[in-house]
Amino acid sequence: MGDSIARIRVDRESILATVDERLFGSFVEHLGRAIYGGVYQPDHELADEDGFRTDVLELVRELRVPVIRYPGGNYVSAYKWEDGVGPVGDRPRRMDLAWKATEPNTVGLDEFCRWAKKADSSVMMAINLGTRGIEEARNLVEYCNHPGGLYWSDLRRAHGAEKPYDFRVWCLGNEMDGPWQIGCKTADEYGKLAAEVAKALKLFDPTLDLVVCGSSGPGMPTFPQWEATVLEYCYEHVDFISLHIYARKEKDDRPLFLAESVKFEHFIQTVESTVRFVKAKKRSKKTVRLSVDEWNVWYHSLGAESDDDLWGVGRRLLEDRYNVEDALVVGCFLIVLLRHADSVRMACLAQLVNTIAPIMTDTSGRAWRQTIYYPFLHCSRYGRGEVLETRIESTGYESGEYGTVPYLEAIAVLRRTDSEVSFFCVNRHETEALSLEARLSGFAGISVVEHVVLADPDPLAANGRDAPDRVAPRAENGARVEGDRLLARLPPLSWNLIRVSYS
Ligand code: AHR
Repeated sequence: MGDSIARIRVDRESILATVDERLFGSFVEHLGRAIYGGVYQPDHELADEDGFRTDVLELVRELRVPVIRYPGGNYVSAYKWEDGVGPVGDRPRRMDLAWKATEPNTVGLDEFCRWAKKADSSVMMAINLGTRGIEEARNLVEYCNHPGGLYWSDLRRAHGAEKPYDFRVWCLGNEMDGPWQIGCKTADEYGKLAAEVAKALKLFDPTLDLVVCGSSGPGMPTFPQWEATVLEYCYEHVDFISLHIYARKEKDDRPLFLAESVKFEHFIQTVESTVRFVKAKKRSKKTVRLSVDEWNVWYHSLGAESDDDLWGVGRRLLEDRYNVEDALVVGCFLIVLLRHADSVRMACLAQLVNTIAPIMTDTSGRAWRQTIYYPFLHCSRYGRGEVLETRIESTGYESGEYGTVPYLEAIAVLRRTDSEVSFFCVNRHETEALSLEARLSGFAGISVVEHVVLADPDPLAANGRDAPDRVAPRAENGARVEGDRLLARLPPLSWNLIRVSYS
């Protein structure tokens, strides 16, 4: 029996959206070994003069992450930013209740900004609206963004940062609907507070991009009423509403797990509709955009945390070891993000180093790339451009919860500056390859630049300290062009990047 045929049609004139590069953002929280032992490890042989691991920096730079959300996450809801500035020796050690760890404040705001600069990235700053409010937000924005001559901006200068950081994006708290959140709130309480904080920040600089918290996930009982209520308070004062989602494999059901991106797409569509509803109700001219500022696969480490090192600095938490099927789910999520690039203008892979991360370290030796690193790398490098409407014809399977799910998930991005079209495809079939036939209308002189595949006979294969390249992408031969059609074989359970040039 031959491979099943899956068809794609794209047309040069049918553009869905121009990709905002901030779709390829990420997230570093003071959590586990993300900072202490990940980003920062002064006793490591590869540490630089600031104590930052250069092997980690290299991998972050390779990913081309334009924006990094900081410092949390749950951590931010009791965050006292003043503890982490000034002479390191004078900084207090604090209890981090969110992750039951000690925060030594060795790495604070100024150090993190120095690191982000070395990583060729910018910071998306989150504000504590759990235990704090307008006053602290006002001071923080002055410290970070004001040029100088005022109390807080002069303090920043005294700490060695002469020029303002000029953070463009600010998150108004984190997951404020979650009962686990320190200082969690009802939608009315949070909506009122967020609107007032937003007003204050916009009085300082009306060009800031402000992100208000949506629900902490589509499974929250208050979703999507939370979004509607919060936007009613904040619509005219904010620019983005956040979405958080983590894919989980339940009952060892791989087909269902591979369909988690369907849930993600429904989540986005519901928030898009809620924004439209509130916009219409308010007769508003502006459109609030979506910021998926936490997304990933997260389940391997759940329940595995040990209490041995309670209140330790940089204790091991959320260290998911990602395998091939996780990379496919991350690939499907990236495809969904690109398909909704018109409304989703920012997204942050949660997170970046050691905690549910594409980059892992150990106390000695070099950092390595987890499987999920690769789909992110491919999209970040070859997914910036214009998303083409990508019509897919594919057979599918019955997933249970998400109905019939096509074996092929795909999106195409036109990159005019390189005269290329990138195809990102996932074959969800466990045992059969798909024969891809992609028709490209409106393009002349097309030819294949490369076809790169991430797949493995063992879908549970993963990389680790002793086998950092056990799973890595490989070049696939055989993709070719016939007339206006690209023909390629997509192996079973595979992530594929196919680059096509045109004249
Ligand atoms: O990313 C890990 C945690 O997940 C974050 O701290 C929190 O915002 C979310 O629940």
